[in-house]
Amino acid sequence: MNKKTVRDVDLKGKRVLMRADFNVPLKEGAITDDTRIRAALPTIEYILEQGASLILMSHLGRPKGQKLPELSLKPVAEHLGKLLEQPVKMAPDTVGDEVQAMAEALQPGEVLMLENTRFHAGEKKNTPEFAEQLAALGEIFVNDAFGTAHRAHASTEGVTKHLPAVAGFLIGKEIDFLGQATGEPGRPYVVILGGAKVSDKIGVIQNMLAKADKILIGGGMANTFFKAQGLEMGDSLVEDEVLPVAQELIEKSGDKLVLPVDAIVADAFADDAERKTVDVENVEIGWRILDIGPKTVALFKEILGTAKTVAWNGPMGVFEMPNFAKATFAIARALAELDAITIIGGGDSASAVKLAGVDDKVSHVSTGGGASLEFLEGKTLPGIEALEDK
Ligand code: 3PG
Repeated sequence: MNKKTVRDVDLKGKRVLMRADFNVPLKEGAITDDTRIRAALPTIEYILEQGASLILMSHLGRPKGQKLPELSLKPVAEHLGKLLEQPVKMAPDTVGDEVQAMAEALQPGEVLMLENTRFHAGEKKNTPEFAEQLAALGEIFVNDAFGTAHRAHASTEGVTKHLPAVAGFLIGKEIDFLGQATGEPGRPYVVILGGAKVSDKIGVIQNMLAKADKILIGGGMANTFFKAQGLEMGDSLVEDEVLPVAQELIEKSGDKLVLPVDAIVADAFADDAERKTVDVENVEIGWRILDIGPKTVALFKEILGTAKTVAWNGPMGVFEMPNFAKATFAIARALAELDAITIIGGGDSASAVKLAGVDDKVSHVSTGGGASLEFLEGKTLPGIEALEDK
């Protein structure tokens, strides 16, 4: 990575303002997955070891400038305190006189968590006033919020105009791995794309057609490609508005794009629906595709077996329903057994490798959903771009 990191600056005795992505799932006030909090620990611990005090900030959910108690970062502060085995003070707000006084009173080694940055409309609008108020809390800015790096908000981009700005270790690690997926991967390089909508993945397919040796397509998005080829898709999800784009991608791809050959179809969108396995040419009206079939899994595994680098983004079926999760988990397990660099995009594919119990057997699981997708599209992430060059 060509950006300065925490190792390139002197942190001793400084007040460090760090942006993390603590946008974690909550159920009735309890954190149901703390992966993103744990992922920030190496940077947090390093900063404290250097003799700095630490002010942490993040968004949580989409409160749209409202102070919603259910989206307070208090549970995150408490959980982080347990992981660090030291108290994490909770600020009553994100900015303001009281918060400023709390930040200035911090001693080396102490940690303060600011309240949800999105409780203020200036965060998403990236207003200079809000960015300045945030920046006034610290002396050095560290960004380790890879999951939010695709957002040019006050706490990710605006603050960099007021403070020396460097990257944390998580951003460094994400760029190292995802950079292999977009840079010069070991070959053969196989990309697996899934998920419901092809419209979400057009940018990735276009970028990967130029880089990958094979692109395996699964999930609901395959249906749109089939319909573009004139196949009957029954009651399957199809995005009619992007049929011409799908057609164009097929024509451009040569033999790079590999589509499923069979599918699991169901007579309703429900886990207990009647289901059967059919070849993709035989989908009848009244039936819908909810997973790729066993012949396709075998075909994908055969291609993956030759790969030296694999990047995966998007499930192969409706994996929230156990009866339509088999192929997604089979692909997750297949990746875990490969002698290759295996890079998993965030969001659903990250959940899938976790649920399949193989998240520690792949090379990298990204903490960014939208951010990893934009990175794979070849876009510049403003939260990283704004940091100081080496
Ligand atoms: C994410 O969960 O993808 C990030 O935290 C960004 O959240 P956002 O999509 O609400 O900006």
